[in-house]
Formats: sequence, C-alpha cells, structure tokens
Amino acid sequence: MAITIKSPREIELMRESGRLLSRVHDELADMIRPGISTKEIDRAGEEIIRGYGCTPNFLHYNGYPASVCVSVNDEVVHGIPSDSRIIQEGDIVSLDMGLIYKGYHSDAARTHAVGQISPQARQLIDVTRQSFYEGIRMARAGMHLHDISNAIDAYIARYGYGIVTALVGHGIGTHLHEAPEIPNFAQRRRGPKLRPGMTLAVEPMINMGTGKVIWLDDGWTVVTADHSLSAHYENTILITEGEPEILTLGKIL
Ligand code: MF3
Ligand code: CO
Repeated sequence: MAITIKSPREIELMRESGRLLSRVHDELADMIRPGISTKEIDRAGEEIIRGYGCTPNFLHYNGYPASVCVSVNDEVVHGIPSDSRIIQEGDIVSLDMGLIYKGYHSDAARTHAVGQISPQARQLIDVTRQSFYEGIRMARAGMHLHDISNAIDAYIARYGYGIVTALVGHGIGTHLHEAPEIPNFAQRRRGPKLRPGMTLAVEPMINMGTGKVIWLDDGWTVVTADHSLSAHYENTILITEGEPEILTLGKIL
C-alpha cells in the first residue's frame, strides 16, 4: 500500500480528530488513581469519545474487546481492561486509544505515574516521551522515514533501555493502520521520503530491561519477557513544509 497524502480538507478533519482525542486523554489522566479498575478507565474513555459524537477505533479492531488499551507496569501495550485489575500506588499505567471523527482516525498513547514511583520508573517514562520528540525532529518533508527510527534508537541507546522491535508505528488516516510501518529502532535503509500531507502515528515502546516481549494467553496483552517496566508514548503527527504538527497534544503532553 502506498502512503496516502491528505488533502487540505482531510487535514482539517485529522486535526479535529486529534484535538478531540487529546481531550479524552486529558480527561482520563485526571481519573487515574489508586483503587480505580482498568475497566472503569475504558468505560469512561468510550463514554467520552461517544459523547463527542465519535467512535472508538480500537473497539472490535481484530476482535480487541475494549476502547482503551490499559497496560500496567510490565505490560507493554494492548492490556485488556478488567473490573478485577485495580490500579495501585506506584504503578505506571499506559493508556493507548484512538477515535474516528467523520471517517478520520487519530491515535495516541501516554504512560502515567500513579502517586509516587521510583526515580528509575520516572526516568523510563520521561525518556520514552523524549524519544518521540527526538524522532520527530526528523519528521520533515525531504527527510526519510527511517531518519525518525534512527533518531529514536540513538536517543534510547544513551540510556541502555530495550526498544520493542516486535511492534511499530504506522501511517493513519481513513484507516487506523495505513502504510508505512514506522520502526522505533535503527534501520539500514532510509525508507520512503517524507512529504507534506502524510499523517503518521509515531509510538516508541521502551522497556527498562531488554526489548524482548511475549504475548499473554489472552491473545492481546504484550508484556516484557524479563518483566521489567515498559513505557509507551504516541502521537498522530502531520508532515508539513516545515515543523511537524502534532495533532494529538492537549494539556497532558
Ligand atoms: N494502539 C495500537 C496502535 O497504536 C492499536 C491497538 S489495536 C487494538 O497501533 F486492537 F489493540 F486496540
Ligand atoms: Co498506533
């Protein structure tokens, strides 16, 4: 599949999709506290998305049973919300979700600290977020896709963390997952040239230990093979003639 270039009209719809998603993230962030179940977070997310007249795009995607992926501690991504999974003080909680606005998808993820966490966990979250920003410094027309991948890898290497290689970022638009795949680790080829109007979901998934992951028997939840902590940070961005535009940023970065 070719990488789609969005028209000015489509870009407006992508912007609104992203703006609404950032608001849902901000609202859910305020709910995260010890004692809440991961299912309550998912239910609230779905309700807010539908309240905006939008549709949760993760729900039923390849059979995924929820609107928000809630992944705790050594869970990397695609944690399935459950009434019996209760958030505790000291946890790190990744929320990944997306929505469809007038046919246009947005996708974003954040990792949140619950109360006091260790300095090591704090650094993992901060470095994962920063690796996204290091990556998208390269997200400019005329640069190549893998310049983003290489920049993320080079930044993470300074900390010795494990980059998850089994999962990647992706193009996004009228589908949640469009071409191209966006690896978060160094590539030998430069990849396709970036052009204005491309919309991309860049999403480093970073482990405190090795980058190796395993799938739980539920068929979805991805956990670190060594059970070290993992963090995730994702935004939907737009390639422009100049700086990339981050479409899914609200109050909570
Ligand atoms: N969050 C994933 C992504 O960023 C997609 C999740 S699909 C779901 O591409 F089915 F798990 F929801
Ligand atoms: Co994504």
